[in-house]
Amino acid sequence: MTQKLAVLPGDGIGPEIVAEAVKVVEWLNENAGLDVSLEHDLIGGQAYDEYGVPFADETLGKCKTADAILMGSVGGPQWDSVDYDKRPEAGLLRARKELELFANLRPALVFDALVDASSLKPEIVKGLDILIVRELTGGVYFGEPRGIEDLGNGQRRGVNTQVYDTYEIERIGHVAFELARKRSNRVTSCEKHNVMESGKLWKEDMSALHAAEYSDVKLEHMLADNCAMQLCRNPRQFDVIVTDNLFGDLLSDEASMLTGSLGMLPSASLGILGAPGLYEPVHGSAPDIAGTGKANPLATILSLSMALRYSLDRGDMAEIIETSVQNVLNDGIRTADIMAEGSKEVSTEEMGAAVIAELSKAKALAA
Ligand code: IPM
Ligand code: MG
Repeated sequence: MTQKLAVLPGDGIGPEIVAEAVKVVEWLNENAGLDVSLEHDLIGGQAYDEYGVPFADETLGKCKTADAILMGSVGGPQWDSVDYDKRPEAGLLRARKELELFANLRPALVFDALVDASSLKPEIVKGLDILIVRELTGGVYFGEPRGIEDLGNGQRRGVNTQVYDTYEIERIGHVAFELARKRSNRVTSCEKHNVMESGKLWKEDMSALHAAEYSDVKLEHMLADNCAMQLCRNPRQFDVIVTDNLFGDLLSDEASMLTGSLGMLPSASLGILGAPGLYEPVHGSAPDIAGTGKANPLATILSLSMALRYSLDRGDMAEIIETSVQNVLNDGIRTADIMAEGSKEVSTEEMGAAVIAELSKAKALAA
């Protein structure tokens, strides 16, 4: 049966990088027995310009009936003065909330060929393989009350609310513990229970869930600021890190830099069983390099591979894509962000073509 992939390229470099991932889907359709139809739509600033909203109801409808959603990136300076609730970022947040994508998986994996691209010493990051599980539909991103109020005395007050209910902590905990069981069986839960009640609840609920259902997994609690420090000091101590929406946003950007470039990191946002997942690179829309052919499409291609694994039930194809990316890197083919001496610098399109050339080689070998 034909599976459906909704494709939302978005703003900035989004269209360029998504185009390369789409070529991979087309190649798999033609050459590897994949049967995925593509349905494009707009999100972010482009959707705002076209529809007046950054994530339209029709787009939401298309996403709901898809098996998976592949997104590029949202945002750019031309929408800086747009109202908060219509900004490009609000479109992405609406998509996450409406589709109930509460679990955001952000793997940080150091490819051997890129060990020198990291800002940390090779001996610290070599072989690094961690997974950040970020809660994505709660916390301070969505908590009420929120807003900016005029206090009438020449002062204004900005308010956001950090709030978590037990069910939210438990369901993200389940995801983290289940994934840890398939990896090195260790979970580090991060919060700020020393200053925040929501953190105290997070810690207590995570411990209770662990004791009730996952005592075979090793659970450690860590304050989020300490975790930020430990990620630079000794990142390989971690296997799965589970944390809230805001801390997860920060820690995943930090973790991505360990791998050499933000341009390498894919992500999956998953909801309840059977609902479509949303797959996107962790990096943003990089308006400064949009249209220059400098963007690295690998995070998007690796996001597609996560879609194949988690939503389309084609783990076999995910593996072929990941091996192909690894081979391309081993061959010294690099976009500007991961360029190193002695390597060959290529454009966005050339990088996409290099991955497809590797896929073709793998097919020829298998035949
Ligand atoms: C991310 C981004 C988003 C976030 C923005 C674009 C709303 O930084 O996915 O990490 O803050 O969640
Ligand atoms: Mg972020």
